[in-house]
Amino acid sequence: MITEDAKQKFNELFGYESQRLFFSPGRINLIGEHTDYNGGNVFPCAISLGIYAAYGDRDDNTVRMYSMNLPDQGTVEFSLDDLHFDKADGWSNYPKGMIAEIINQGHKLSHGFDVVVNGNLPDGAGLSSSASIELLTAEIVNDVFSFGIDQQELVNYGKLVENNFIGVNSGIMDQFAIGMGKKDKAILLDTNSMKFEYVPVELGNHVIVIMNTKKHRELADSKYNERRAECEEALKRLQTGVKIDSLGDLSEAEFDENSYLINDETLIKRARHAVFENQRTLLAKAALIDSDLETFGKLVNASHVSLHYDYDVTGKELDTLAETAWEQPGVVGARMTGAGFGGCAIAIVEKDKVDDFIKNVGDTYEKTIGHPGEFYIAEISDGPREIK
Ligand code: GLA
Repeated sequence: MITEDAKQKFNELFGYESQRLFFSPGRINLIGEHTDYNGGNVFPCAISLGIYAAYGDRDDNTVRMYSMNLPDQGTVEFSLDDLHFDKADGWSNYPKGMIAEIINQGHKLSHGFDVVVNGNLPDGAGLSSSASIELLTAEIVNDVFSFGIDQQELVNYGKLVENNFIGVNSGIMDQFAIGMGKKDKAILLDTNSMKFEYVPVELGNHVIVIMNTKKHRELADSKYNERRAECEEALKRLQTGVKIDSLGDLSEAEFDENSYLINDETLIKRARHAVFENQRTLLAKAALIDSDLETFGKLVNASHVSLHYDYDVTGKELDTLAETAWEQPGVVGARMTGAGFGGCAIAIVEKDKVDDFIKNVGDTYEKTIGHPGEFYIAEISDGPREIK
């Protein structure tokens, strides 16, 4: 078992029994992609795939961390007195960044600790392994040192870690979805006002299948920051003629009337995606509440098409998964989820068609791309927590 393995590895590496166990989920986004840094709506949920941590106190100022998912990186060791980004430290920059941020916010950790993490969340697969490890660290530190920091504050710290420590200009969606996750609920979050609402995900005789391209990518190396800069430039040009603070302020019609102000084909496409995706997300939420899965699925498909043609973040792997999924019996909708450029897609599939679905999409994917994909059934889960 995943937690038993973590405890055993802890003992083996550090020579004493771990004292506590923690868990943090990954996330999928149902719809509302690349809208969270454009003042738009997102509609994600936390999933039961995630990262577990076996934890033990130390009495000095050292932190030691080991990931059973990335054994090549060995045990990473750093001091609470010297928390700087170091590329050589790989994944542990995320926990390190979170610890640094918590200290930065005025909290004092009275001692170091040892941690072994073990996850069933595929790493670098667009299911937010990085936000998961950030919020896992936040959960551990907040709990062990009884800081009582509000969960939404920790979510904000996670974004600061990405933006300032790691150097990815990401929005708030991933940290929010994970930190605020609730079983069987999606979160409709307006990233402009930060107002949010839990919406039950009731799919009747359908399930959500996660489809992994197995094309690894790190946001830090992707065109993520470039897309964000393109949206900022489009906004700046729009603001010469309309009074808006973000692309999320525009309706589709207002965008069409004013897109001449942008006057650049690529920038118009990027901004159009942000504006239309934002509105699509609200329609999708309403369809889900009305149990109108057919409409929901069409909006999900439209999101993928827009991310392909207008936003240009899908790529051959994600397109193959989504387009093959669309052709299968019992499929309501399918799209890439997360940042894109590889990573994962999701499909809403009739329960008794899932086996055929996985076989057919899996075969076509492997034939077209040259390596197999991977498939999981998504269970929508609670946020970070201690496991007793
Ligand atoms: C990544 C970022 C999020 C969001 C998505 C795209 O997951 O971390 O903030 O921008 O991409 O919707």
